[in-house]
This record gives sequence, structure tokens and C-alpha cells, in this order.
Amino acid sequence: MSPVRYTLPAMALHWVHAILVVWLIWLGWTMADLPKGAERSAAYSLHKSLGLLVLVLTVLRLGWRLRHAPPPALVSGWQARLAVGVHHALYLILLLTPLAGYLLSSFTPYPLRFFGLEVVKLGWPDEALNAIFKSAHVFLAWSGAALIALHVAAAIKHALLRDGNLQRMLPGRVFKK
Ligand code: HEM
Ligand code: HEM
Repeated sequence: MSPVRYTLPAMALHWVHAILVVWLIWLGWTMADLPKGAERSAAYSLHKSLGLLVLVLTVLRLGWRLRHAPPPALVSGWQARLAVGVHHALYLILLLTPLAGYLLSSFTPYPLRFFGLEVVKLGWPDEALNAIFKSAHVFLAWSGAALIALHVAAAIKHALLRDGNLQRMLPGRVFKK
């Protein structure tokens, strides 16, 4: 009999990431349509700050994950392989999407700030490089959105089956499998 929950830090980082990423996709989707002005600038600044926060949290989360294996899988066969594949792809998206965002913002003439604090940029004003990282960022962000839809659909299916899968990611009484 082994405990089947994730550790508390893994849960906390999972749910903070989940909220931030959904917020970022919504912001990214809507901010470009705002009329030029203070509201649009504020939306872009918030998007960049929250995105950089995701990047910092991803480094922490990967560090924690490498030292703490997830609880043994509830499912087996192709479902277990698909779940592991989607989870690994989500980690890759959590790392590469904000990195591409950072790089696209680095190759512009504008300063980059993290909640008001100026961040060192690894680039210089260059429209071609900006366009390359912009395409990568948009591709990664929407691929991530598709993977998240699949991931959440699986979580809802497990919740409807009441098989304890969702409880693995939620705090509560210790339960054993
Ligand atoms: C309402 C939204 C979400 C729900 C209900 C949810 C639920 C879950 C559950 C139940 C697990 C554990 C799966 C298992 O034990 O096999 C899990 C794992 C995971 N989730 Fe989510 N999730 C949500 C959103 C997200 C988002 C937005 C991301 C990332 C962008 C994400 C990334 C991950 C990753 C990477 C794992 C694997 C953790 C590991 O094994 O290291 N989740 N999620
Ligand atoms: C996980 C983190 C992130 C997610 C999920 C995300 C998501 C998105 C999405 C969905 C869009 C709209 C794409 C479209 O036009 O269809 C977008 C645009 C944008 N993002 Fe992010 N983003 C993240 C991190 C970042 C970071 C860290 C930065 C910069 C520091 C950034 C800068 C931008 C910029 C400047 C745009 C507008 C690009 C343009 O001019 O079209 N993003 N993002």
C-alpha cells in the first residue's frame, strides 16, 4: 500500500501554474485587439510579467520534480503512456513558451520589465529575429492550449469515474490505494 498523492509543493506549483497559464492565454488572445493606449500597454506589461513568473516557477518545479517522483500511475497500458507523454510535453511547453516570449521581447527596442523591475534582454532591436521568436511563441502557446484541453478532458473523465485521480493533485485526508 503506497500513498498516492503528489507532494504539497508539487500541488501548489501545479495549481499556480494552471491559473497563470490560462490567464496568460486569455491575455495573449485579447490584448492585441485593444486600441493603442494605456490599457493595451498595461495588458502587455502584465502578460510579460506573468509569463516571466511562469518561467521562474517552471525552473523551481522541474528542480522539485527531478528530486520527487510522482506517485505510481493509477492507469496502465496506452493510457499511462499517453498521460506521461502529455505531462512531459506540458513541462516542455511551460519552459519553451515563456522562453520564446522572453526572446521575442528581447529583439525589440522596448525595455522589458518584471512587475516594474527592468530585466536584462539577451537581444537587440532586430525585426527578423523578433518575427522568428514571435512565430515560435504563438505556435508553442496554442499547442499548449490544445494539450491543456486534452489534459483537462482526461481529468474531468477521471473525476466523473471517481477513481481518485483528481485527489492525487488535491490536498486532503491521506488516502491509500
Ligand atoms: C482545471 C485544470 C487542470 C486540472 C483539473 C488538472 C489536473 C491534474 C491532475 C489530476 C494531475 C495528476 C495526474 C496523474 O496523477 O496522473 C495533473 C498533473 C499534471 N498537470 Fe494538470 N490539471 C489542470 C491544468 C493544468 C495546466 C494548465 C497545466 C500546465 C500548463 C498542467 C500541467 C500538469 C502536469 C505537467 C502534470 C504532471 C505532474 C507530474 O506528474 O509531474 N495542468 N493535472
Ligand atoms: C507560459 C507563458 C506564456 C503563455 C501561455 C503565453 C501566451 C501567449 C498567447 C496565447 C499570445 C497570443 C498569440 C496570438 O497572437 O495568437 C501571446 C502573445 C504575446 N506574448 Fe506571450 N505567453 C507566455 C509568456 C510570455 C512571456 C514571458 C513574454 C515576454 C516576456 C510574452 C510576450 C508576448 C508578446 C509580446 C505577445 C504579442 C506577440 C505579438 O505581437 O503578436 N509572453 N502570448
